[in-house]
Amino acid sequence: MGVTENAEQTQQEIILGFLADGREEFLSGEALSAKLGLSRTAVWKHVQSLREKGYRIDAVPARGYRLVDVPDRLSPLELAPLLSTHDLGQSIHFHESLPSTNEAAFRLAADGAEHGEVVITDQQTAGKGRRGRTWVSPAGLNLYFSAILRPELPPQRAPELTLVAAVALAEALREADADALIKWPNDVQIGGRKVAGILTELSAEPERVHFVVLGIGVNLNAGPEHFPPEVASTATSLSQALGRRVNRALFTASLWGRLEEWLDLHHEVGFEPVRARWKELSATLRQEVLVRTGGSELRGVAEDIDTSGALLVRTAGGSLERVLAGDVEQLRPR
Ligand code: BTN
Repeated sequence: MGVTENAEQTQQEIILGFLADGREEFLSGEALSAKLGLSRTAVWKHVQSLREKGYRIDAVPARGYRLVDVPDRLSPLELAPLLSTHDLGQSIHFHESLPSTNEAAFRLAADGAEHGEVVITDQQTAGKGRRGRTWVSPAGLNLYFSAILRPELPPQRAPELTLVAAVALAEALREADADALIKWPNDVQIGGRKVAGILTELSAEPERVHFVVLGIGVNLNAGPEHFPPEVASTATSLSQALGRRVNRALFTASLWGRLEEWLDLHHEVGFEPVRARWKELSATLRQEVLVRTGGSELRGVAEDIDTSGALLVRTAGGSLERVLAGDVEQLRPR
């Protein structure tokens, strides 16, 4: 790419950034040309060339420009202009296909990758779920990424980050108009069906976290035909909930923004605001649950989560049991 092409691309990225910030709002050609120090004709030419690249931009006389849709691709070229984050996704490792973004991110982090670097892919051939399960990851439909985090936390507090991610995910899905809730510990659901999952992996010494790999999978456009029979009745996607296709790039930018806000708040204030928001978004609290942990089962009413994110279950005998890990079945889903 020559120097001029490079400069043109940067100007187009800046235009996209402004339009993406004010999504659904018109931005006048005059304001854009003032911000960029370009003539209105030059702005118009950039808009035309962005349209040729697949961006849908409305141009209305006397009102200006409005970004309507972006190409549904997840490479840095498409994602970077949409991002409002300061760390998360400032370095993006995009691959058409990977066995698992968590594995790739773990290797990068072990080699010294920085806080906020993200591995993202169009498809996973060996996507990993919790408890040794696989995460169904067909091409071109959904979102699969892993963020490398280097939090200043003792290892025993690292699980809080999973709840941070669950809150951010539920909020991003709600912003997209879906009624998302969190099933303890970190399944995000719509209408009682799982739409997103989080797999957090840790490298640490007893006193110090080296890094955390926060892996997130969101079913954005998968249809019932994409789920294998064993999860078909318990999984859903955002597009199934909304009845329309979801733009992955726009959703990703929105999710990363939320995620970074919550990570920052957690870093500055601690776990309490996360816990409070998690409780508001919980599908599990106040429900009758059956918790399977290893070989044992526990039945009762999910009353609360404690300051470390453990689930507190009131049994029929009246005792309050603390559950650190397990699979929860809600006997009467909310
Ligand atoms: C779960 O079982 O609920 C967790 C699923 C986590 C899936 C995501 S997809 C991106 C990242 N890479 C993986 O291999 N797994 C996580």
